Amino acid sequence: MEAFNQYIPDEITMCRFGAKLMQIASNIPTDNGIIIYLNGDLGAGKTTLSRGMIQGLGYSGKVKSPTYTLVEEYHLTEKSIYHFDLYRLSDPEELEFMGIRDYFNAQSICLIEWSEKGRGLLPPADLIINIDYVDDARNVALLPNSREGKQILQLMKQIISSPS
Ligand SMILES: Nc1ncnc2c1ncn2[C@@H]1O[C@H](COP(=O)(O)OP(=O)(O)OP(=O)(O)O)[C@@H](O)[C@H]1O
Ligand SMILES: [Mg+2]
Repeated sequence: MEAFNQYIPDEITMCRFGAKLMQIASNIPTDNGIIIYLNGDLGAGKTTLSRGMIQGLGYSGKVKSPTYTLVEEYHLTEKSIYHFDLYRLSDPEELEFMGIRDYFNAQSICLIEWSEKGRGLLPPADLIINIDYVDDARNVALLPNSREGKQILQLMKQIISSPS
């Protein structure tokens, strides 16, 4: 399946895109949760997109970057979102001490920045999001990596191509 690309001119559009994506992702049936890797250089917009996704699921508080805590949790009515930033992880083994396995269950949606730092201990993603700089704007590419990821992409393509 081909990747889905979207040009994102500014931060507000990035948040709205995240909200749409989350409305879809949270309704996909799954036994082991939905795992999304967010890739992109420093300041590309991984946390901004995550914020849009988390608030899109109804969380109205502040979404902090998990830079120092490694993970921030959001327990909503039907789903729990775990937002990781593994930039400061010095060894993937640290994920074992965090009890990483407990984060992946049918009700969880895991958003993971700097997933490469947890290589070997993280489960594979359902969906990979690559964010690239286009001058002051961004390009967001969605790449499916599982059956659930393909479903998300298909629905996303439908939503974006139909007038809102
Ligand atoms: N189109 C855009 N989408 C998202 N952010 C944008 C856009 N244009 C400008 N920005 C700005 O880029 C910055 C993105 O910061 P953000 O913390 O989301 O990046 P990050 O990828 O999480 O970085 P880090 O690797 O440090 O965690 C913000 O200051 C935001 O205002
Ligand atoms: Mg970030």
